[in-house]
Amino acid sequence: MEIHGARVTLRPVRPDDAAGLAAILETPEVSRWWPAYDLARVEAEFLVKEPNYVVYAIVADGRLVGAIQTHEEPEPEFRHASIDLFLDPAVHGQGLGPDAIRPVIGHLVAVDGHHRLTIDPAADNERAIRAYEKVGFRPVGRLRKCWPKTWPSARRQ
Ligand SMILES: CC(C)(COP(=O)(O)OP(=O)(O)OC[C@H]1O[C@@H](n2cnc3c(N)ncnc32)[C@H](O)[C@@H]1OP(=O)(O)O)[C@@H](O)C(=O)NCCC(=O)NCCS
Repeated sequence: MEIHGARVTLRPVRPDDAAGLAAILETPEVSRWWPAYDLARVEAEFLVKEPNYVVYAIVADGRLVGAIQTHEEPEPEFRHASIDLFLDPAVHGQGLGPDAIRPVIGHLVAVDGHHRLTIDPAADNERAIRAYEKVGFRPVGRLRKCWPKTWPSARRQ
């Protein structure tokens, strides 16, 4: 199913997106925040069909410019959803991130019935925090020792 922002189209990710997404993830601007993704990991993680997990390709002007994913916690007492995304550095700073997030929020709330959404940028990812504030997210706390100091090399094998 496709959903639309003002300038972006979000559609389910396809096998022929994998190389383009891996190339975006391997740029320094993106890999700083999405470390250790290569083609094999993109294929293994983004193209699998898993319950409660959706990956949309972000398309702008007919071009693949990133991906946005949602995870849903289905347990009724704790039910909520989380969102994460990345964009090609060539389109950073043009408002496409918020434009992709808004319809995903709309879908999670209006279609899936969620009332709690989370998004968890690194504390020093100021661009992401600003982008998320623009669509209504607010800081509620800071997780400590959240990321490992080094990323397991096994991720790349
Ligand atoms: C984070 C990301 C999704 C945001 O999408 P985007 O389309 O680039 O966001 P925007 O165009 O709305 O710009 C972000 C805002 O941050 C501001 N900004 C940029 N650098 C900043 C900085 N160092 N400090 C504070 N604000 C900053 C911009 O001025 C803009 O705000 P404005 O519209 O009020 O001027 C995108 O930049 C991206 O993919 N980054 C790399 C991967 C990443 O960090 N993913 C998120 C992991 S949680």
